[in-house]
Amino acid sequence: MIYLDNAATTFPKPHRVTAEVMRCLTEYCGNPGRGSHRLALAAAEQIFSCREALSSFLGVGAPERILFTQNTTYALNLAIKGFLRQGDHVLISELEHNAVRRPICVLAAKGQITFDVFPVVGLTQDELLLRLAEKITPATRAVICTHASNICSITLPIARIGALCRKRGIRLIVDAAQSAGILPIDMKTMHIDALAAPGHKSLYGIQGCGFLAIGKDFALEPLMEGGSGVDSLPAEMPTDPPERFEAGTLPTPAIVGLLEGVRSLTSGTARDLAARERELFCAATERLSSLPDIHIFAKEHTGSVLLFQKDGVSAAELGRHLGSKGICVRTGLHCAPMAHKALGTPDGGAVRVSFGRYNTPSDVDSLWEALKS
Ligand code: ALA
Repeated sequence: MIYLDNAATTFPKPHRVTAEVMRCLTEYCGNPGRGSHRLALAAAEQIFSCREALSSFLGVGAPERILFTQNTTYALNLAIKGFLRQGDHVLISELEHNAVRRPICVLAAKGQITFDVFPVVGLTQDELLLRLAEKITPATRAVICTHASNICSITLPIARIGALCRKRGIRLIVDAAQSAGILPIDMKTMHIDALAAPGHKSLYGIQGCGFLAIGKDFALEPLMEGGSGVDSLPAEMPTDPPERFEAGTLPTPAIVGLLEGVRSLTSGTARDLAARERELFCAATERLSSLPDIHIFAKEHTGSVLLFQKDGVSAAELGRHLGSKGICVRTGLHCAPMAHKALGTPDGGAVRVSFGRYNTPSDVDSLWEALKS
């Protein structure tokens, strides 16, 4: 089996991640913050270590501003619905995943907000900034955009968008689902007010948790109320993060897996991962370009994600063929119909190959052989 679907979730996980998840489940998986016994305290301590590791890895500035959620989608819903108010205008990019597009469209359909979409595909950074700035109105309160597309290797110039937002008094909410763990992120210097990311993609944790990292003065309301483990008497949620935003029991095994995943990324051997994934991308692009009728989208943007299609064959059929050869890819629209429209893919979408830390050049050879056949 050759796994080339790392943009959906990375696989396999580093041994230290699965070993710690198992150790947690067998040795210390009490309910964090819900007891003063040894197991609850050990779980709480590990969770705090994960907040510290993420805060330092992403330049958040304070561990308590890492808010654990069930996934990136929940984190984005929290940022969007917990921050936007009646009458706000927001800007989103044309590459957004449904995790941004749908909550924004729902708020707009209810008449609570208005929004515009700024273009990305085919533009230089300067042009992108210009087109974005043109769409800002006096009511614009946030720019909400992805850092890296989930269907190809286009990335947005987040630091420059952040600087523009800061200058214009607008908040920046970033979907880092495909970039956290691959691209450098420093929330403070990039002027990011809220950053949503999954544990199970390039941070190499397991499925079951994501998080929203928030800036110091980002005024956010909770999406859910419930037990927080502290201050049980009042009818309202506690006033301070993270407890204010984390109603109910946290997924401790997923969070300790994420802690080990982040630690694995900050150890010496992991530093060149992005460069290695770019090399695989370039090798795959070169190989696939030599095949007749294969069309590669956005191939000038090198990174971990390659999107292609073969004339006369549907993406689904091509995916099934690759699956029959033991190659795992994702096909279709990848929950990002606006991005597919912007790239001009066929109605049924395209085939996505996405590399991770355990892929090798021989995986690219196998992909090429399978497509040749
Ligand atoms: N958002 C994930 C993907 O792009 C699941 O496949």
